[in-house]
Amino acid sequence: MHPTTSAQEAADALAAGHLVALPTETVYGLGANAEDPLAVARIFTVKGRPIDHPLIVHLAGIDAVPAWAKDVRNYAVDLMHAFWPGPMTLVLPASGLASEQLTGGQPSIGLRISRSRDFQAVMSAFTAQTHTAAGIAAPSANRFGKVSPTTAQHVLDELGDFMAENDLVFDAGPCAVGVESTIIDCTGDAPVILRSGAITRQDIETVTQLRTGTQSSVRASGTLDVHYAPQASVHIINESELAQVPAGSGFLALAKVPTPDGCLRILAPETTEAFAHGLYASLREVDARGLNAIYIVTPPASGIGIAINDRVDRAAAATSAASEGQRQGE
Ligand code: TXA
Ligand code: MG
Repeated sequence: MHPTTSAQEAADALAAGHLVALPTETVYGLGANAEDPLAVARIFTVKGRPIDHPLIVHLAGIDAVPAWAKDVRNYAVDLMHAFWPGPMTLVLPASGLASEQLTGGQPSIGLRISRSRDFQAVMSAFTAQTHTAAGIAAPSANRFGKVSPTTAQHVLDELGDFMAENDLVFDAGPCAVGVESTIIDCTGDAPVILRSGAITRQDIETVTQLRTGTQSSVRASGTLDVHYAPQASVHIINESELAQVPAGSGFLALAKVPTPDGCLRILAPETTEAFAHGLYASLREVDARGLNAIYIVTPPASGIGIAINDRVDRAAAATSAASEGQRQGE
């Protein structure tokens, strides 16, 4: 496996059945031609992911949706026009090209159109040599349950040993947003958020003029309690608890929060957006530095702060599970 910055080379590799790790505006994805069952099967092996977990299929444009989904509700169409290309995945009733391998055996398919220019360049070179509705199946390019990669180097570090010689990593620098897309179940009468992201509940309700629901019949693995976990233990504290942080720990908080004595400040983001952008790199950094623990003061839970709080809660859940002696092999 080797790095590339050529969209054509990446598209050629996908069309030839190889895996290509690709940048999106959220995180790096591990891509395969969605219509190539052998290549898609390798995604599961390389990630160590259970085969009944569905994959997101990335498309070039809204015109491609009818090849993959049917009975698309009007509010879902409104969401597509408002937020695609962008950090949003829609779960829609599956049809046509949506194989069971992609849907995890469920009757729905997750679709997304990324706004990353590099991703789009690969997508258009890929559709040029396949067909206009072609899809790239791409989950986050990390081992199952671990921290999503936001740089090509993260992908190389984490999946390098598992990918094959002819697989590629498209290097386009760090991802703009830094946390995964908002996933919205659009199979029912009203949209239901399955995973928070840069597109918020308020954004969705404003565009659809509907109240988001809370009941969903679909499963999404990014919603497992234990996920996004580094090796180091993850602890959530508030600003009044800074004195209790053990010396020698890693520390992450907005810039306005002072670093506790004896701790190593991993990042001091000025804004919530910058916090999201640097979150996963920070979790990797504590491991790279061999620290045992990271203490995090999360930003307020509004806007992308909701997604940050969600991911940090799940990363910390791995720590609680471990301290109860039942750390899962996620
Ligand atoms: O930002 C993102 O969404 C990134 C980039 C690469 O696009 N992708 C990503 O994929 O985060 P992944 O597989 O790591 O997380 C997708 C989540 C999983 O929890 C999966 O179970 C859920 O979406 N999902 C995918 N298709 C689904 C479907 N048809 N029904 C329910 N959940 C689905
Ligand atoms: Mg993932």
